[in-house]
Amino acid sequence: MDPRSEVLLRQVELFGGDLLLAGLPADDLLGRLPAAHGWSWHAGEHAALTARFAGRCRFGVAPDERPFAAAVLFLPKSAELARYLLDSLAARLPGGELYLVGEKRGGIESAARQLQAFGRPRKLDSARHCQLWQVTVEQAPALPVLEERAQRYRLQATDGPLEVVSLPGVFSHGRLDRGTALLLERLDGLPPGDLLDFGCGAGVLGALLKRRYPQSRVILLDVDAFALASSRLTLAANGLEAQTIAGDGIRDAPDGLAAIVSNPPFHQGVHTDYRATEDLLREAARHLRPGGELRLVANSFLKYPPLIERHLGPCQVLAEGNGFRVYRAGRER
Ligand SMILES: C[S@@+](CC[C@H](N)C(=O)[O-])C[C@H]1O[C@@H](n2cnc3c(N)ncnc32)[C@H](O)[C@@H]1O
Repeated sequence: MDPRSEVLLRQVELFGGDLLLAGLPADDLLGRLPAAHGWSWHAGEHAALTARFAGRCRFGVAPDERPFAAAVLFLPKSAELARYLLDSLAARLPGGELYLVGEKRGGIESAARQLQAFGRPRKLDSARHCQLWQVTVEQAPALPVLEERAQRYRLQATDGPLEVVSLPGVFSHGRLDRGTALLLERLDGLPPGDLLDFGCGAGVLGALLKRRYPQSRVILLDVDAFALASSRLTLAANGLEAQTIAGDGIRDAPDGLAAIVSNPPFHQGVHTDYRATEDLLREAARHLRPGGELRLVANSFLKYPPLIERHLGPCQVLAEGNGFRVYRAGRER
């Protein structure tokens, strides 16, 4: 059981009613709170929860329409996302109870101050390195419009400007990442066929791929519903069409790809996690067609080349700068 869930269950009598669990971990909490339902924006956790608790968890950037009497937010890493989620929940809970739970090292203490906008917050518990806060929503905010919380910037690419739209919580919110910038300069010469932007974030790479290779089917895959929503906004802002897929890891990508292009993930929550990227390097060959290629950018200190060479083939460094490297490796024909 996740420690945050354990903290909730220490006062289980508070959570027996019609409760929405927002950003819940993929553990047994829904089993212990039979009247509760979940809202997740993480495709992998949502899939795990749905497999065990069919029909009791929704995936997306907003909760479903059904009313709820109280809600718990599991504090996300991004402060902007926390603000949007708290406003979304409080707007639906005038006079109701809103709870916030999170790890101390995830910043729960300062995040709880945001509850002051709705009423008088109280700390209910502190245990398992976590805190649980509660507020009765006396001043409900207006329902927030997600797009109004987007940040937009214009990127000067070699083939013209690209408008990037990023939503709260999305990687490199409101600015171009330096690793992505290096990879953008090396998108030339990809083989013809389907192209995948793995871990698409705000969709910068996928959108540029579609513009540069208009004949190719371009697929943007991410685990995060806010990233996918950003990618759709970025594509639309530039008049581009591509497919977006909610998936957890490369196993959810299609086969027969001509190229996988990625600035792959290496942080998850407050913990560092290389699993999704290591799986990508191990499994890329299965998703590439013969002659297909993997092109990715990573911090130079990350020891990816040996893994790439073991599972795909000779790994070439195409570019280097600002502490990043762009790697290329091809599947044999
Ligand atoms: C370093 S960011 C790159 C984002 C974007 N491509 C860019 O260059 O700005 C990595 C992305 O991978 C996503 N991600 C993390 N774990 C994932 C997983 N298991 N499956 C798919 N995507 C994942 C994150 O949500 C994030 O958007």
